[in-house]
Amino acid sequence: MKRILSGIQPSGKLHIGNYFGMMKTMIDYMESADLYVFIVDLHALTSVHDPRRLREGTLEAAADFLALGLDPERCTFWVQSDLPEVCELTWILSTLTPMGLLERCHSFKDKTAKGIAASHGLFSYPVLMAADILLFQSEIVPVGKDQKQHLEVARDIAVKFNNTFGETFVVPEPAINENMATVPGLDGQKMSKSYGNTIPIFIEDKPLRKLVMSIQTDSTPVEEPKNPDTCNLYALLKLFMGPERLAEVHDLYVNGGAAYGHIKQELFELIRDYYAEARTKRKELLANQDYLRETLARGADKARQKATVTLDLVRDRVGLKY
Ligand code: ADP
Ligand code: TRP
Repeated sequence: MKRILSGIQPSGKLHIGNYFGMMKTMIDYMESADLYVFIVDLHALTSVHDPRRLREGTLEAAADFLALGLDPERCTFWVQSDLPEVCELTWILSTLTPMGLLERCHSFKDKTAKGIAASHGLFSYPVLMAADILLFQSEIVPVGKDQKQHLEVARDIAVKFNNTFGETFVVPEPAINENMATVPGLDGQKMSKSYGNTIPIFIEDKPLRKLVMSIQTDSTPVEEPKNPDTCNLYALLKLFMGPERLAEVHDLYVNGGAAYGHIKQELFELIRDYYAEARTKRKELLANQDYLRETLARGADKARQKATVTLDLVRDRVGLKY
């Protein structure tokens, strides 16, 4: 069984880009992998400095995963900061990480360009992420395309450590589902919390409909042919619509007759129904926070068993055991 790991930040409401880019992939792996899923609150601290928001975001992200079908008995599911071991490994790895490797990271440049303060934590974000991955000897890391470079950093650090101190870490592989690589947002850019163009997974019907109706489309008249491959409404439709109806809609695009308003209404109903059951379950979970906390605490205990084995080996390799 492959060891598969991925994490998600609790820095805002999880959206359908997160769902198709990462969460669904992880949930689907539950049957066939030794699975590790965690909520990266230490990473979220690089952008969230409101303790209440971080606390709520963490519990909500946990409820989201469980409501969507993640079974904590069939994987290891925990909150990053419950295992401070990861911070020790981060420090050890950071002493081997070339500045240039981090200076090349697009994510740091993009985030600071958008006005997030260029803190040391934001700069060394990829080292903490490498520690997350290497601590569990992860073989495969499913992420969206935007995280590919961070995976390369983790691989580089693993190789450098192994070359310096002897074979210690598994060198992880990214798993990027190219079809789902980037879910577009309301404006056609990548759907992202930081662009304010998301469709949250768990949102009430009325605001959901409003958001779907606001998806940007061109002004081609109904009867004229349209190109489905460049239309972000169609890209979203593909995620939720069954193949037969999708083929019909495709014909309408190509031959003329596709009315955006009707298609949006259809998309709204599809999204609403797709998550209906999970929405009810999520409400129940959030009403029982003791259960959520206990589940996460058990997950952290399970995760710690693996983490301490790696960390012991690392301490020994670098000479911290005397
Ligand atoms: P955001 O950009 O909204 O802040 P994150 O960076 O926290 O999202 O991403 C969490 C996970 O979801 C990552 O694996 C990321 O690659 C994936 N992801 C985020 N947005 C999208 C998207 N629009 N399409 C596909 N995957 C995405
Ligand atoms: N940086 C990732 C993101 O923003 C989250 C993350 C942190 C992660 N640690 C990880 C993803 C380890 C995969 C593996 O999406």
